[in-house]
Amino acid sequence: MSARCLVATLSLLVLVLATLSPTTMAGDNESLTASYRAKGQAGLDRLQQSEMQQACSGPVGMEVAADVATKIQKAAMDGVVLPADGKLLGQWEKGQKIAQTGTGMQSSDDPATPNGGNCYACHQLAPEEISFGTLGPSLAGYGKIRGQSEAMLKYTWTRIWNSHAYSACSHMPRFGDAKILTEEQIRDVMAFLFDPASPVNK
Ligand code: HEC
Repeated sequence: MSARCLVATLSLLVLVLATLSPTTMAGDNESLTASYRAKGQAGLDRLQQSEMQQACSGPVGMEVAADVATKIQKAAMDGVVLPADGKLLGQWEKGQKIAQTGTGMQSSDDPATPNGGNCYACHQLAPEEISFGTLGPSLAGYGKIRGQSEAMLKYTWTRIWNSHAYSACSHMPRFGDAKILTEEQIRDVMAFLFDPASPVNK
């Protein structure tokens, strides 16, 4: 390729890249819209990204600006709802089931059936469980290690409700904020993490 041709090719490439702003790449993905078929409860509205999702959908390695990250975390924190009766712990046995259940919200799932939390997809929880993902940190011994101070209970509730309150572009589902789990289910999952009798703390 001649030097002139190379220069022409490179400047064309620069021009094309310049027209692709991060918003058009992340928020307005036409090929995705064209290939996605709405089915059951999985409607096309799922392709509409919130401001947070757009900001966190940049190319791999692209950092979110510090002021944007602060804004995302504050909005997430402001949206956290603590139980009106102040009861943050439910039944660990039920929480264990929720942590083990990976169904819910898929096009093939019945919306009338309660969703699972699918916690094992990303975390180790009860050490006796041999199959778990490692995208998130191990939560084995969670309550035993951290205790049950009010601050720790509130921190953990907030993490489960909307993890973006602490990590702007967290990969953890927004269980409360996105209405994946009900308040009662979150209480049960909390008990699974904190109860001394729970297999998580054995
Ligand atoms: C898709 C993966 C994913 C799933 C599913 C998931 N998490 Fe997480 N979780 C993470 C990641 C990643 C982190 C680390 C912090 C971050 O990046 O936001 C985390 C952090 C946490 C923390 C904070 C840990 C710490 O050291 O302070 C808790 C508690 C937690 N998750 C509980 C749960 C529970 C309970 C469930 C199920 C209801 C769950 N997670 C499901 C990915 C996930």
